[in-house]
Amino acid sequence: MKTVITYDGAAQGWSDEDIRQVLESVTRVATILRDAGHSVQRVPVRPGLRWLAPCRRADLVVNLCEGIDAVSRFESLVAGTLELAGVPFTGARPEVMTICHRKHVANALLAAHGLPVPQWVIPNGHRVPGDFPLPAIVKPAAEDASVGIEQASVVTSRRALVDRIARMSEQHDEVIVQRYVTGRELAVGLVGEQALPVSEIDFSRMPEGAWRILSFSAKWDPGSDEDVGSQPICPAAITKPAADRLVALARDAWRAVGGSGYGRVDLRIDETGQPWILEVNPNPDISEDAGLARMAGAAGWSYEDLILRIVNAALADAQRSSSVAMLAEGARTRAERPTPERQQNLA
Ligand SMILES: Nc1ncnc2c1ncn2[C@@H]1O[C@H](COP(=O)(O)OP(=O)(O)O)[C@@H](O)[C@H]1O
Ligand SMILES: [Mg+2]
Repeated sequence: MKTVITYDGAAQGWSDEDIRQVLESVTRVATILRDAGHSVQRVPVRPGLRWLAPCRRADLVVNLCEGIDAVSRFESLVAGTLELAGVPFTGARPEVMTICHRKHVANALLAAHGLPVPQWVIPNGHRVPGDFPLPAIVKPAAEDASVGIEQASVVTSRRALVDRIARMSEQHDEVIVQRYVTGRELAVGLVGEQALPVSEIDFSRMPEGAWRILSFSAKWDPGSDEDVGSQPICPAAITKPAADRLVALARDAWRAVGGSGYGRVDLRIDETGQPWILEVNPNPDISEDAGLARMAGAAGWSYEDLILRIVNAALADAQRSSSVAMLAEGARTRAERPTPERQQNLA
């Protein structure tokens, strides 16, 4: 099978270390695919459409492109272009990315499906209703990977809330405020139809007095206090019924956003045992040291299994939905029988 691996190839402003990590991850996936008999071409995605030609000649695209030049808004456009080109590709469809990249849109959709989302609001200017519960967390609405999340994101007074919204609004176009859920943080990974063992962030070594959150520093600053204080554990130490309940909820959330391919749903469980959905992540990081690979490991899969199952899920999806082919067929049939006014429009 002719397989292309796409990835963000516009690395302006990236550190050498960022570039090294992306290439290492791509090389690892390429090796697995070659060993499984694919002929593999790596295609860096840069502004413009030059990357598209090799993709159109491929039988499958393993889409590791999380954006162009780290601008995550472009992630969905790359997936959309692949969909329009009619090439099977791994991971989520473009509309799922568009929905989930805007937390207020995803939250509204989840809530409309009756799923538990902690109360949230879009500030009006820098204000939120006076009865909005505290503590609250202020988040950029259209970022991921903990961008804009730090200890000061959690506020316990109205004054601090307004200040934080003002501060975040200077850097981000859209900001949301959400009730802060105290409790355990868990995640469910999904690959195709398969749910992986629940994982947990162990915050027990978080410095005294610090909020137990996965901040930017916890995620990206190895060895920092917040990194040391937020260790992933998989499988989570929870009972089977509790895990089953979380998996069922994650599946509902995934279905509600139209999820396909592979994803991860982040949740919290409060002191009463009530689970809350924090976020749905289509195409989470599939590097060998990232969360999804850890969950796959807990399911007894090797890293190779994970990559090949992601590929198989894409091929199965492509077989099921031939929407582009149907669209082309519909257009052809219509074109064969044009009405007089269509003929005029088409002229
Ligand atoms: N409502 C909330 N209550 C408690 N903690 C939260 C809440 N929302 C976010 N967090 C913390 O902030 C982290 C990042 O938030 P998240 O919404 O997942 O954004 P990102 O897209 O950056 O991962 C979460 O992993 C969690 O630790
Ligand atoms: Mg998250």
